[in-house]
Amino acid sequence: MVQLTLPKNSRMTTGKTWPKPTGTTNIKQFQVYRWNPDDNKNPAIDTYFVDMDTCGPMILDALIKIKNEIDPTLTFRRSCREGICGSCAMNIDGINTLACTYGIEEVQGAVKIYPLPHMPVVKDLIPDLTHFYAQHASIHPWLETKTSAPAKEWKQSIDDRAKLDGLYECIMCACCSTSCPSYWWNGDRYLGPAALLHAYRWIIDSRDESTGERLDDLEDPFKLYRCHTIMNCTKTCPKGLNPAKAIANIKKMMVERAV
Ligand code: SF4
Ligand code: SF4
Ligand code: FES
Repeated sequence: MVQLTLPKNSRMTTGKTWPKPTGTTNIKQFQVYRWNPDDNKNPAIDTYFVDMDTCGPMILDALIKIKNEIDPTLTFRRSCREGICGSCAMNIDGINTLACTYGIEEVQGAVKIYPLPHMPVVKDLIPDLTHFYAQHASIHPWLETKTSAPAKEWKQSIDDRAKLDGLYECIMCACCSTSCPSYWWNGDRYLGPAALLHAYRWIIDSRDESTGERLDDLEDPFKLYRCHTIMNCTKTCPKGLNPAKAIANIKKMMVERAV
């Protein structure tokens, strides 16, 4: 019989349980993934108790309170705290989402917080997004033109501009790609929903003059066609975008130009 073993240092252990706050009964429990590359220990789940009478309503508020008042070693990314920068993406209660826009009250019982799944971890809740960003860069996320630049600006009709709605709002949080089973197993070669949504955003931009080259570049068994329309990406996007539809539209354009 085949024996499967987990890689060294991947087995999860029980971590530290931090003391409960005193003088209050309005307490919420948080179970948070911890891993430090410098201490040579396995990942662990630490348990924290937060006084909800003195905590803001969002998961990020609780994480900041834990870091400020309980455990300054807890490490996570955040910047805008209003769903714009994409840096606080993590797995909360089994869902890839933004800690700053996800309400603590939405979680029944203890809140379980992990880094985005199937990505290398830098530390605690911080995934290594180097490859994810390289894939984004690979689709040339900028306007490519061949005709000489106009004196003032590249113009676009109101209708053509409207075609970018539902695409330009992507904040590159990686919630979609890290929820996609095809990306989990083939992320080295499959571009994943975030990069493909951006690819489509430039393919349908009426001002762009590299549409053919952009489609040529995606005509590949792995880059595009590993999407099997499982729809996890669209279900999880915290900005309400639909990467699966963008991918389907690219595939449709591929068929249309072939006939
Ligand atoms: S629709 Fe495609 S990109 Fe989205 S989760 Fe499914 S396989 Fe991944
Ligand atoms: S499509 Fe949504 S989930 Fe994916 S990177 Fe963009 S904002 Fe995040
Ligand atoms: S802190 Fe910027 S999206 Fe959450």
